Amino acid sequence: MNGERGGDLGGDLGDSRVLVVGGSSGIGRATGIAAAKAGARVAFAGRRTELLEEAAAEAGPDALALTCDVREADQCAEVVARTVDRFGGLDHLVLAVGMTYLCDVVDTTAAQWHDLAATNLIGPALVTTAAIPHLTDVRGKVVFISSAAVIGPWPGLVAYAAVKSGLETLARGLQDEHPTVGFSTVAISSTTTDVLQGIDRATLKARFSQWRERGFVSRGEMSPHALAEHLVGLLASPLRLPFVLAVPPPRPSAGPEAPRSGTG
Ligand SMILES: NC(=O)c1ccc[n+]([C@@H]2O[C@H](COP(=O)([O-])OP(=O)(O)OC[C@H]3O[C@@H](n4cnc5c(N)ncnc54)[C@H](OP(=O)(O)O)[C@@H]3O)[C@@H](O)[C@H]2O)c1
Repeated sequence: MNGERGGDLGGDLGDSRVLVVGGSSGIGRATGIAAAKAGARVAFAGRRTELLEEAAAEAGPDALALTCDVREADQCAEVVARTVDRFGGLDHLVLAVGMTYLCDVVDTTAAQWHDLAATNLIGPALVTTAAIPHLTDVRGKVVFISSAAVIGPWPGLVAYAAVKSGLETLARGLQDEHPTVGFSTVAISSTTTDVLQGIDRATLKARFSQWRERGFVSRGEMSPHALAEHLVGLLASPLRLPFVLAVPPPRPSAGPEAPRSGTG
């Protein structure tokens, strides 16, 4: 651990090369910046080029902004190739890419199912497929960000969780196929990000009320920065941590108000 470069928990990433897909905002952005502070060269990937460039600028002169949409198979391979071209290899891959809808399973359209699967499971699988030859050479790590909603069920997030739960199966299977690479799934609970920003207020209010009734949101939210320190620690650790569940600590006194942003 190197407290000066990587924070109290972050660990030292030396000169390692890290690709964060879903690096334009939220947990991915925070993780990329924490990784850069811990000594890594970081590529931030996602669709919003301006945000990626801002994240790369904050991370330092060696960082890279790569526009890509993981729903497009060729872009999944390309984002890895561009990272390797620039950095001369790849040591770690963080899949923080994700999106959700908030609706019951029976109201989830075919197009929404395809979008959920393409973004949350197939895209991450294809990026990982392209990265594995590089990660194998260096005994690198892959971290898939999943959701505590896979344990739920959180009303409104069941379709999302069904897709996200595939990440754990994927990670276990990939671990068997590629034993020198370390695969982790980190299932996280509510974290303060904009992941629900596209959802209308009435729907959000109704769903938070259901989640409160189930006791899912009584603990408050985690900050993406606190989570990022742990994710960097996971990358830097000599240990293998196949499955991690990250939840916020209990509130000092459980208040009635709803969290503002995160999902399960
Ligand atoms: N916040 C929570 O409470 C919570 C709870 C459980 C799990 N999670 C998971 O945590 C991860 C990070 O989410 P977050 O909370 O940090 O929300 P966020 O800020 O919305 O981050 C999502 C990231 O995914 C990227 N992304 C979405 N669709 C993409 C696509 N088609 N191609 C490439 N990149 C795409 C977004 O970038 P662009 O829009 O620029 O493409 C963004 O960088 C996600 O996997 C999410 O499912 C979050």
